[in-house]
Amino acid sequence: MKELKINTSSMEETWKLGEKIGSSVKPNMVILLDGDLGAGKTTLTQGIAKGLGISKNVTSPTFNILKIYEGRMPLYHIDAYRLEGLHQDLGFDEFLDDDGLTVIEWSQYVPSLIPEEFLFISIHLLEADQREFDMQAKGAVYEKLLEELK
Ligand SMILES: Nc1ncnc2c1ncn2[C@@H]1O[C@H](COP(=O)(O)OP(=O)(O)O)[C@@H](O)[C@H]1O
Ligand SMILES: [Mg+2]
Repeated sequence: MKELKINTSSMEETWKLGEKIGSSVKPNMVILLDGDLGAGKTTLTQGIAKGLGISKNVTSPTFNILKIYEGRMPLYHIDAYRLEGLHQDLGFDEFLDDDGLTVIEWSQYVPSLIPEEFLFISIHLLEADQREFDMQAKGAVYEKLLEELK
């Protein structure tokens, strides 16, 4: 497990961080995002989408749970916020094998979707527009991805 902390001080900076991640990801990767409401999970995902060459605007999928966007590879954007305490098998697993990138907001509510290896990003709200991105890479391909973000 490798770790990296990156701070941003604006929405734009978070967006750029996401773009860098989106440019470096490989098919089948899974990125887990945790952090309070307003931390910047969706903002980071919008940057990731840009890095994947997705031109469509990525919005919070709170009411859909899963949204799919077409880019250099498909982006599967899951927001598990409304699934807290449900512990249901949603049948999403098949998407995770489908050569796309899966980004999961509130991943703690869908433990069945968390694979062996992943990039976990815990976002902390600091004062005003400051955010801390606490990243943990589990697995060699994710550790390499983290190296590229330094
Ligand atoms: N450094 C920053 N990074 C990301 N968002 C920021 C930052 N500073 C302020 N914000 C604001 O915080 C909010 C983040 O919202 P959002 O990305 O939807 O959060 P989440 O998906 O975690 O609930 C936005 O309104 C954004 O303008
Ligand atoms: Mg969100």
